Amino acid sequence: MNLDDLVNPINKQKLDRDNIEYFFGIPNLYFDDEKPLTATQSEFYNDVKFPNYDDIEDFGTLLEKSSKSIFVKKLDDEIPFHSNILEAGCGTGQLSIALSRYNRKIHSIDLSKGSLIEAKKFIDKTDIKNVQLYRMNIFNLCFPRNYFDVIISNGVLHHTHDAKSAFAKLVDHLKPNGIIVIGLYHKYGRVVQNIRQYLIKTFGEKMKFIDKRFSENLSERKKYAWFKDQYYNPYETKHTYNEVINWFKENDIEFINSIPFNFNLNDKITIKKPILSKYEILLKEFFLMFDSRQIYEGGFFVMIGKKKEKF
Ligand SMILES: C[S@@+](CC[C@H](N)C(=O)[O-])C[C@H]1O[C@@H](n2cnc3c(N)ncnc32)[C@H](O)[C@@H]1O
Repeated sequence: MNLDDLVNPINKQKLDRDNIEYFFGIPNLYFDDEKPLTATQSEFYNDVKFPNYDDIEDFGTLLEKSSKSIFVKKLDDEIPFHSNILEAGCGTGQLSIALSRYNRKIHSIDLSKGSLIEAKKFIDKTDIKNVQLYRMNIFNLCFPRNYFDVIISNGVLHHTHDAKSAFAKLVDHLKPNGIIVIGLYHKYGRVVQNIRQYLIKTFGEKMKFIDKRFSENLSERKKYAWFKDQYYNPYETKHTYNEVINWFKENDIEFINSIPFNFNLNDKITIKKPILSKYEILLKEFFLMFDSRQIYEGGFFVMIGKKKEKF
C-alpha cells in the first residue's frame, strides 16, 4: 500500500507522509483510544515478544515449522494468490511471513514496538518484500474502508478492552465477500488453563510443573514468553461459538466455518458449513474442557466468516 492512502482515523484526513515517525524503519501510526488497557498491553507485549524466533533461522525453517500447524497450512493453501491481507495483532509476524508467498500483499499491525522490531529483523534478513509492518491500534486503524480480501486476527481480540467492538472495527476494513478469521480463547476450552493460572498465582512458580511446556525442550526465552503471556497477562476474556455467531450477525458476516467445532481435516476451512444447533454446540463446547489439545494450547477456537455484499 502507498502510505499516501493511509488516513488519520481521528480527524479522517490523509496522513502527512513527511510527518510520520519511524522506528527501525517501521511507521508508527498508533492512535490512542483513551482506554488505559491498550497502553498497558502495548507495554506488556513490548517486553513479551510473542512468538519468538529462537529456533527459526531462515524462511525455510519458518515455513517448515508453520506447515506443521494445520491452521496455517490450510490458510496458506486456501488464501488466493495476490490477496490483500491484514494481520491484526501480528506479534512478531510469523504468521504473516508464513503466508507471504504467492504474491500476496500482507499488512501486519501490532501495538508492540518490541515484537514489530523482531518481525522487521527477520523480514530484512530474509529479504521479504511483501510484508509491510505498521505500529497501529485495532481501535484506530488507518487503512481505507472495505480494503482487504482477508483479515486475520489470531489470539488478539481477547486481550483488548472490548473484543466485540474490536471485531466490528476490523470488519469495516474488509471488502464485501472478504474472509475474516478470528482466533479466541474459549470459555470452556480454557477452564484447565484458568485452574493452572489460579494455582501458579497462588502458590508461585514452584507450581510451574503443572504446565507441560515448562518441562519441554524449549529455549528459556520461549518459556518466559509463554509464562508471561499465559499467566501474567494484564487482561483476557473468553468467548463462545454462539457469542461470535451473534457478532457475525450484527456485522453482516456470513458464518463459514469454525475450528474445532465444524472442522473436518479433509475439508477446506473457507468452504461454508452449516451453523451448529444450540444443542450440538453445547455438547461440543462442554467437552472442550477435557480435550488434551485444548488443555495443552490454553483453550482456543477459530471462527471464519465472509462479509456479505450489500445491495
Ligand atoms: C498473544 S499475542 C498474539 C500474537 C500473534 N497473533 C500470534 O498468534 O502469535 C497478542 C498480540 O496482540 C497485540 N495487541 C493487543 N491489543 C492490540 C490492539 N489494540 N491493537 C493491535 N494489536 C494489539 C499485542 O501487542 C500482541 O502482540
